[in-house]
Amino acid sequence: MIEAVKLTKYYPPPIKSPLDLKSLGDFLGKPREEIPALVDLNFKVKEGEIYGLLGPNGAGKTTLCKIASALVIPTGGHLYIDGYESVEEHNEVKGKIFTIFGGSRDLFGLFQWRVSVEKNLRFMAELWGIPKAETDRRINQALELLHLKEKRNEWYQKLSAGMRQKVYLALPLVLQPEVLILDEPTVYLDAFTRREVWNAILRLSKELGTTILLTTHNLREAESLCDRVLLFNRSKIAEGTPKELIEEVQTLKAERKIIAKIKGMVHPKDFDGITQKIEVQRNGEFTYLQLYFKNEDIKEVLGLLSRYKIVDVQTSQVTLEEVFTHLCKK
Ligand SMILES: Nc1ncnc2c1ncn2[C@@H]1O[C@H](COP(=O)(O)OP(=O)(O)OP(=O)(O)O)[C@@H](O)[C@H]1O
Ligand SMILES: [Mg+2]
Repeated sequence: MIEAVKLTKYYPPPIKSPLDLKSLGDFLGKPREEIPALVDLNFKVKEGEIYGLLGPNGAGKTTLCKIASALVIPTGGHLYIDGYESVEEHNEVKGKIFTIFGGSRDLFGLFQWRVSVEKNLRFMAELWGIPKAETDRRINQALELLHLKEKRNEWYQKLSAGMRQKVYLALPLVLQPEVLILDEPTVYLDAFTRREVWNAILRLSKELGTTILLTTHNLREAESLCDRVLLFNRSKIAEGTPKELIEEVQTLKAERKIIAKIKGMVHPKDFDGITQKIEVQRNGEFTYLQLYFKNEDIKEVLGLLSRYKIVDVQTSQVTLEEVFTHLCKK
């Protein structure tokens, strides 16, 4: 459905003032360096999939979204949407694809300020040629799902910034494009509103079959929403389901941690040879143990622990956040 083949983008170097003597020297002497944003990036997104694009600041995520929307021309390689080249054959795809740029703050570009929420949504539906009865149905559903019903007749201008963002995110539910590109869609939203938007995104993918490309810095968001994620910094670092990436890092680190609260004293020597590190803290009648050990030694560690009076035990889990930090550091 979406396929990147050796996708590459180098931005031209910034043009400095000719009055700046140093840059004039650069201009006359050595060639100025171009800025790499994407280098030989390959990936494939299946129909109906939510595909997360993760990467540090400047990794090339927005550039990729802009290429998909034909706002930036790649320097090399191709991005195909439904088999069509996103820039060269933009006319073939423009009725199938809708993009929301949350991170770059031009989120609200399409809406009129002194016009009601409903009229704004209706206007866009008309532009997309959606029949009136269908528009009514979709607007009702979208406002219901995003808990926006009481804002229906409110001027867009009168809404809070987060509310405006939420109304804007109702648009894909009304337009129902085949492909949806979301660049940091929930970036300024509070935790509750973010979850409402997650529900809307999941509905689009799971019930309407929309193929979604989503960039985010919120790794909980990626873990909750994405079927697969691509971790990249100009080029690919890792790809897979959030679960696969977490498991991969877990085995790479080959380390687990157990925190146990035990009634009474503990003899740290009992754990010699099995744990890699042990931290012991006494507090009144309780001992707090932190044990670091290899994955394969879990049975023995649990066996030893069971000799004590355990009050509470927690094992720490690797999250996508740790995967991100671990793989981006390398
Ligand atoms: N119009 C432009 N002209 C020159 N360089 C640009 C332009 N837009 C982006 N860049 C550069 O391309 C690289 C990738 O930028 P991009 O905005 O795609 O990253 P990003 O992954 O979206 O980052 P963020 O997480 O901060 O949004 C950066 O080095 C950036 O400075
Ligand atoms: Mg960006």
